[in-house]
Amino acid sequence: MTDRCNFRCAYCMPKEAFGSDFVFMDRKELLHFGEIGSIVQAAVPLGVRKLRLTGGEPLLRKDIDWLIKGLKAIPGIDDVAMTTNGSLLARKAKMLAEAGLDRITVSLDSLDDATFRAMNDVDFAVEKVLSGIDAAIEAGLTPVKVNTVVKRGANDGDVVDLARYFRDKPVILRFIEYMDVGTKNGWRLEDVVPSGETFQRIAAELPLVPIEPNYEGEVARRFRYADGQGEVGFISSVTKPFCSTCHRARLSADGKLYTCLFATQGHDLKSLIRDEDASEERLGQELARIWAARDDAYSELRTDGTRDLPKVEMSYIGG
Ligand code: 5AD
Ligand code: SF4
Repeated sequence: MTDRCNFRCAYCMPKEAFGSDFVFMDRKELLHFGEIGSIVQAAVPLGVRKLRLTGGEPLLRKDIDWLIKGLKAIPGIDDVAMTTNGSLLARKAKMLAEAGLDRITVSLDSLDDATFRAMNDVDFAVEKVLSGIDAAIEAGLTPVKVNTVVKRGANDGDVVDLARYFRDKPVILRFIEYMDVGTKNGWRLEDVVPSGETFQRIAAELPLVPIEPNYEGEVARRFRYADGQGEVGFISSVTKPFCSTCHRARLSADGKLYTCLFATQGHDLKSLIRDEDASEERLGQELARIWAARDDAYSELRTDGTRDLPKVEMSYIGG
């Protein structure tokens, strides 16, 4: 939706790289809602059913409820979700639900206010994100998902508190291994906390029982708490990459199609629509051509360097 974000999480948009002099995309460069709709419409005959709106921070984009309404009206699209940092959610959750948003994922790395303020690096209070999550629950965007990126020395000590806090709410908490997304986050292998380790920390306090994946190719390994309800998941993007079952295409705010999260080159669709006035059929052909030619497997290839990480099994622990 946008390349802008009001947070500066060090693993994503570190201040050194995204300072006050950083030049973001000009608004004119961004796809309009109509253009996004055209691309989605062309993608439906190819099998696209689910959409996820992301950023930057998608809620910084004006009138996003209009886009959601429009996308939900496209025959064949049956699921529209969003990933947000939650900073504006307390105000916007109801509007999003009314527009037809099906699900929401909120990024939250710690419940500890000082840690959270340091991780978002703009001194944003955790309390406001927690109210945003409550607002999403109240608006019926359930089950709300919460994504926690675990980074060694930053928030790896906070994972049990997060699990305890969310287990009694209609929230699915998912722990994600810190990845080398982009080239600007100064990623170091030592900072990765393997999912197995996070699992052990939690299971030692709150016994966990594995549950079946919802569908083939689901990225999170899912568990429920042995003594009741509540679900938690582990996304092992570094130690157990899932490139081979990944079927996600990414459309950037400025209209480039990326066939991998780590791809450095996108395929320009904006000029096709904006300058060449391409028909839906032509757009569809281009999408099919790009998709058929894709051979990304970045995370699997990178595994050469990550193979030495200690392996910890995730299996049933506790009574
Ligand atoms: N490693 C893992 N997850 C990341 N995210 C952003 N950067 C990284 C990274 N380097 C997560 C955010 C958000 C989702 C869009 O991706 O926390 O939940
Ligand atoms: Fe990146 Fe999300 Fe943090 Fe914004 S809130 S800097 S998009 S990880």
